[in-house]
Order: sequence, then structure tokens, then C-alpha cells
Amino acid sequence: MTRGRFVTFEGGEGVGKSTQSRMLAAALETRGIDVVLTREPGGTPGAEAIRSLLLTTDGAGWNARAEALLFAAARSDHVERLIRPAMERGSWVICDRFLDSSRAYQGGGSGIGEADLLELHRIGSNGLLPDRTILIEVPPDVTAARLARRDGGEADRIGGRDAAYHARVAQAFADLAEAEPARFIRVDGQCDPDETHARILAGLAPLLEQAQ
Ligand code: TYD
Repeated sequence: MTRGRFVTFEGGEGVGKSTQSRMLAAALETRGIDVVLTREPGGTPGAEAIRSLLLTTDGAGWNARAEALLFAAARSDHVERLIRPAMERGSWVICDRFLDSSRAYQGGGSGIGEADLLELHRIGSNGLLPDRTILIEVPPDVTAARLARRDGGEADRIGGRDAAYHARVAQAFADLAEAEPARFIRVDGQCDPDETHARILAGLAPLLEQAQ
């Protein structure tokens, strides 16, 4: 049996990753592909429990290293219990955020070193990388307005960090995409959702051809 594919969505807050990951899952299913749609932090009961620890605004929060360890621990459980088994069955896994979010937020945003983040990922998840990563990019002033509508001022612990933090995250995502052009598909998230979806499918066409 052919191994399934692993596609991740990345980008800042409110860029439309969840909508686009659902649209992609539906499009693949209509092509007869078995799809597992999941998200991070979370995706398994253990990782969802860690998600609440990470995102709650109760208490004092975590220092940057503890935060990076918790994301890596959640990812380890998610990879072992959900992502790898699904790929081994031949399914396509579509994941809303993955390792690159740790590289952008805990790395670019919070200053944890890239080599350390990759080492945590090697220990936790055998260094699993996606086949393709779709980076949806929207200028921060546009997402700020979307988020005000979505969250109504009730952002989670990480989403609620200041504009300078989110600007570093956006820059880190752009740098990651530039460094790995074969894995990343960059799309402008300011278009109409159907147009963005069409661009994503076009970007994934070579991977889809290999799978047929
Ligand atoms: P979520 O509500 O899923 O984000 P969004 O809807 O904006 O995509 O919350 C996840 C938050 O966790 C988001 O602020 C990004 C952050 N995050 C990290 O900092 N590191 C990571 O490795 C992951 C997966 C997420």
C-alpha cells in the first residue's frame, strides 16, 4: 500500500487556515482519497489536554522553554497516536498547524533556538516533516480586524501577545518558506476563500498526481 501524504497549514492568527484545511479535506474526499483532518496543539485526547494548559489565560502561564516543551510533547502524542498510523493506512493527513508553528512562535516570537526546537522534534516525533506545507499570508493589520470580530477581545494566551511578537512570527514563517521552497506553498490569504482554495489545489497538483 502507498504511504499516505502529510499536508500542513501554517500562518498567523486569523489567516483562514481552518477554513482552507476543511475545504481541502472536502476536495480530496471527492477525489476518493481517505482524509484525516486534525489540528495542533491537539488532535488526540492527551494533546488536547496539553492544549488547554497552553492556551488558558488562567494562572501565570509558562516560561518560553516550558512552552516549547509542552508543544513538543503534545506533538509527540499526536504523531504517534494519530498522524503516523493514518499515513501508514494510506490516508492523507491534513493538519492545521504543526512544527513550523513552533519554529515561528517559540523560535521567531519567543527566541528559542532553531536547533533546540528541531532537537525536541527529533526526540518527540522522530523529526517527522510534512510532504507539503501551505503558508497562508495576510498582512497583520487585516488579520487584526478579523480577529477582533472572531475573538471579540477574548484572545488565548498566545494569540493575545503584542503586535511586535506577531510581526516576528510572520517574518519567521516567511524565512522558513524561503529556506525550504520545495516543501512550502505560499498563498495570499486576502483573496476570496474559493480563489485561495483553487491556488492551494494548484500548488498540490504534483503531489496529487503522484498519488493517483
Ligand atoms: P488556535 O486557536 O488553534 O490558533 P489559530 O486559530 O489562530 O490558528 O491556537 C493555537 C495557538 O497556539 C496560536 O496562537 C499559535 C500557537 N502555537 C504555537 O505557539 N506553537 C505551536 O507549535 C503551535 C502548534 C501553535
